[in-house]
Amino acid sequence: MKKVYIETYGCQMNVADTEVVFSILGAHGYVRTESIDEADVIMANTCSIRDNAEQRILGRIGQFVLQRKSRPVIIGILGCMAERMKEQLLSDGRVDLVAGPDAYRRLPQLLEAASEGHPQIDVILSREETYADINPVRIDKGGVSAFISIMRGCNNVCSYCVVPYTRGVERSRDARTIVREACDCFERGYREVTLLGQNVDSYNFEGVSFAKLLEMVAGVSPQLRVRFSTSNPQDISDEVLETMAAHPNICRHIHLPVQSGSDRILEKMRRRYSAAWYLERVAKIRELMPDCAITTDVIAGFCSETEEDHQLTLDLFEKVGFDAAFMFAYSERPGTLAARKYPDDVPQDVKVRRLNEIIALQNRLSLESNRRDVGKEFEVLVEGPSKRSADELCGRTGSNKMCVWADTAHKPGDYVRVRVLDCTQATLLCELVG
Ligand code: 5AD
Ligand code: SF4
Repeated sequence: MKKVYIETYGCQMNVADTEVVFSILGAHGYVRTESIDEADVIMANTCSIRDNAEQRILGRIGQFVLQRKSRPVIIGILGCMAERMKEQLLSDGRVDLVAGPDAYRRLPQLLEAASEGHPQIDVILSREETYADINPVRIDKGGVSAFISIMRGCNNVCSYCVVPYTRGVERSRDARTIVREACDCFERGYREVTLLGQNVDSYNFEGVSFAKLLEMVAGVSPQLRVRFSTSNPQDISDEVLETMAAHPNICRHIHLPVQSGSDRILEKMRRRYSAAWYLERVAKIRELMPDCAITTDVIAGFCSETEEDHQLTLDLFEKVGFDAAFMFAYSERPGTLAARKYPDDVPQDVKVRRLNEIIALQNRLSLESNRRDVGKEFEVLVEGPSKRSADELCGRTGSNKMCVWADTAHKPGDYVRVRVLDCTQATLLCELVG
């Protein structure tokens, strides 16, 4: 039996893909190891979203190669960097195998050929592949929350984004296989599933819309929480919001990446909405679900961004009062529309300063959001012991806020009721109720 070690970088979709890879390899006599020192095959499932993500992984390959001193090891690059850099990754002889996101079914053959000393590459993107029939081998340790991939690829061409090039065209997975996977998770003790896609609102499988799919998965059990990511502001429909509102087990949390608060920048980014449209969607969400958390992604210093544009982003953050945000400095990606059309002309120090201003503002907004929860009660899904103490448990609210409370009686996968006594910017400090 050959032992396979995989490091996963980037988004939740990559975690789901690594689970598919372990399943495919498991059916061909490979076993998973979490120790790099005993692996016969070492792979990185990679991310190309920003240059620093790629640089980190390229540095890591150097450490993988050191393992060859003690034994023969196959080194493989999977995922988005495989797709973006292709043969380049094979050029210095350190990597034996390069496989893009749609090539995982062929990994057993590729690994066999690579082990005979022939470097292998498969970066062909598919219009159909969804790995619908593959039963993923879960890699998270908790056994409470699972990712379920519902679609692959992306048909939006946001001008900054490399994903359409690395993951290909959009395709939706057979709804029946998604519901089956959710049932299977529930039967094995999972109590939360997150439905994943680059743009979940454009899910469509033989007439089953995303709203319908949400309803089907929510119907698996009232004890199964359903989350989803990611929604695009131009596509999130009232039907989806109404479906959420009608099902208490669909978590009150929407991740709605805004990217910028300036209409001029949004247009250059090729986002198909305005700041006013975004604010209208936020108002609709809050009208239907006043307790719904809204989180976002934002990019500081996109091509031609002025101080006025940046101020509009800060203003929008203030108006929405996001519960949390992922915040990035713009990183030009080769081959994207922005790289071809617009100069990357905001100086690095200006990007960093603007990013830091957004982070400082969001830190305050996150704290304010948590303070509003002090005194309230929530149903929390237990994840496990808290980081601080063995006598404390941690788990999340439906709005995805981390709670800790003193408790030695419950176990991961239980639902408990807590009251919030105090908070930090990152955590709700609670007590058990009842
Ligand atoms: N530079 C910086 N951030 C980016 N993102 C996507 N592409 C880039 C880029 N070229 C961010 C967006 C997206 C998140 C996943 O990563 O905010 O929503
Ligand atoms: Fe995920 Fe995008 Fe990174 Fe690919 S480039 S791993 S799709 S975040």
